[in-house]
Amino acid sequence: MNQIADLQNISKKSVPAHVAIIMDGNGRWAKSRGKPRIFGHKAGVEAVRQAVSFACKNGIKVLTLFAFSSENWRRPDDEVSGLMELFTWALGSEVSKLNESNVRLKIIGDRNVFSENFRRKIAEAENKTAGNDRLLLNVALNYGGRWEIVNALQKIAGKINSGELAAGDISEQLLTDNLEIPQDVDLLIRTGGEKRISNFLLWQLAYSEMFIPDVLWPEFTEEVFKEAVDYFASRERRFGCTGEQIRGE
Ligand code: IPE
Ligand code: IPE
Ligand code: MG
Repeated sequence: MNQIADLQNISKKSVPAHVAIIMDGNGRWAKSRGKPRIFGHKAGVEAVRQAVSFACKNGIKVLTLFAFSSENWRRPDDEVSGLMELFTWALGSEVSKLNESNVRLKIIGDRNVFSENFRRKIAEAENKTAGNDRLLLNVALNYGGRWEIVNALQKIAGKINSGELAAGDISEQLLTDNLEIPQDVDLLIRTGGEKRISNFLLWQLAYSEMFIPDVLWPEFTEEVFKEAVDYFASRERRFGCTGEQIRGE
């Protein structure tokens, strides 16, 4: 019974606590303008600013942005190196603004493959914003949902080997606690029109609502974010229950 009351409360919320965005369509946006793909990635930085600004103003607590997947290394070398340069530049240029807006930045994904210089910049940006609590901004870089789950299992296995945990302690909550992101996603937005997850937050997306606006990432604005949140507010989230149970009828 208590569990249903909890689900009713979650279902009533009209503002999603955790929004995740697959920022797709930069390449097509650039191509349609006769420009190289990196031009679209650069234009996407302004869309990121719009997303962060909307989240800050509207009480969203966690915003998770997919910037580079563990599969994106398969792209042509010049695009990959252009993206790495852009991420390094954006970290430097945006961190003070994030700090002023009381936003905490966290980079998620396997950072071991990045250069020492880039890893240091990431750590500096995270440390600088560590005390901020208006919005937690997770940026997924070299991130894959499968990698995250395997990484969590390796951490758990290590604790079992050392005797800190027993195999019987393994539970959904324990796995959740060992992920990069423990919060369930309430609303997933994917620009660019594709209706797929592309190895994003596989565990955390279990019960999220999905919104796929008809825009490419560089065209994303606060107005589009508002449409997504309005859509979210109109949904009845049931979590396996019936509509009557959720509405308390
Ligand atoms: C998303 O835009 C950005 C990254 C994957 C880094 P794309 O570059 O995938 O854009 P499209 O899908 O080719 O248009
Ligand atoms: C997903 O977009 C990854 C990011 C937005 C960073 P992709 O463009 O890589 O996805 P697929 O390959 O079309 O599924
Ligand atoms: Mg794409």
